[in-house]
Amino acid sequence: MKSDSQAPLDLEAPIFSHIPVLPREVIEGLAIRPGGHYLDATVGGGGHSRLILEAAEDVQLTAIDQDEDALAAAQQHLAEFGERVKFIQTNFSKYEFPLNTYDGILADLGVSSYHLDHPERGFSFRHTANLDMRMNRQQGLTAADVINEWDEGELAEIFFKYGEERLSRRIARRIVEKRPFATTTELAAAIAYSVPPKYRYGRIHPATRVFQALRIAVNDELKVLETLIDKAPKSLVPGGRIVVISFHSLEDRLVKHGLRNSPLLRVLTKKPIIAGDEEIRENARSRSAKLRVAERKQE
Ligand SMILES: C[S@@+](CC[C@H](N)C(=O)[O-])C[C@H]1O[C@@H](n2cnc3c(N)ncnc32)[C@H](O)[C@@H]1O
Repeated sequence: MKSDSQAPLDLEAPIFSHIPVLPREVIEGLAIRPGGHYLDATVGGGGHSRLILEAAEDVQLTAIDQDEDALAAAQQHLAEFGERVKFIQTNFSKYEFPLNTYDGILADLGVSSYHLDHPERGFSFRHTANLDMRMNRQQGLTAADVINEWDEGELAEIFFKYGEERLSRRIARRIVEKRPFATTTELAAAIAYSVPPKYRYGRIHPATRVFQALRIAVNDELKVLETLIDKAPKSLVPGGRIVVISFHSLEDRLVKHGLRNSPLLRVLTKKPIIAGDEEIRENARSRSAKLRVAERKQE
């Protein structure tokens, strides 16, 4: 099912850095101009936002995150910019995009290093934690609800569709036999025992794809991304840029088609921009990043 070279994001790799990915490419892609107004739809720790604010004089920034902890961290990190930054806690799919407002919009998708650095959020299978995985803890659905309540067919479907997991049915059957599960590590162990030994000791942990699938399902990541790409272009001024960084092939496919099919946009990246060897050595998270840029057409 894989259409390109992106591997599933291995959340267990030592990638807990706070360095923003593709920093130069983001700033070039947004073509930051003095006095411009930019939207960071995924402010996270505020790494890219800081670069945007520093890239030119008097830049204004609206910074969104659905996670209150990430937003608090970003507020601290960007405090010195004072009134130039406005913070909003929301899912970007629910944000009321103002028309013809932004000179540039950035979305750096997925979980942040903050999430990965806090095992209690349940994103990691190497640390014992409740099966949570909500980026927004005010939301109801958790990974435990999905694992313990969805039927076998639904589980197999999300493992296949969102995790590109070839052994989806076999793993779903085992989970249904052994549930309920309370913790990340119990679930990871059950997954490991449901796959053949060859697979168990492969390049990535056998639970990697299932955990990716669960995260996508819990946070409805593909649907919200579609909504973002549908709504954001109207919010750009003519000539304004949208830059999206994705981390797995399902997201990248959506971004590629969404930008290309928008009647308001002209795509500027024929192929996605990826990190060079040096960046990958310094920031392992950049390994699977793909960046695409589009510009709002002049009317
Ligand atoms: C990869 S991190 C961003 C890191 C950031 N660019 C930086 O340099 O620090 C992604 C952030 O986006 C947030 N996020 C993911 N999906 C979101 C959504 N649909 N709406 C709002 N925030 C979202 C996550 O909570 C996370 O904090």
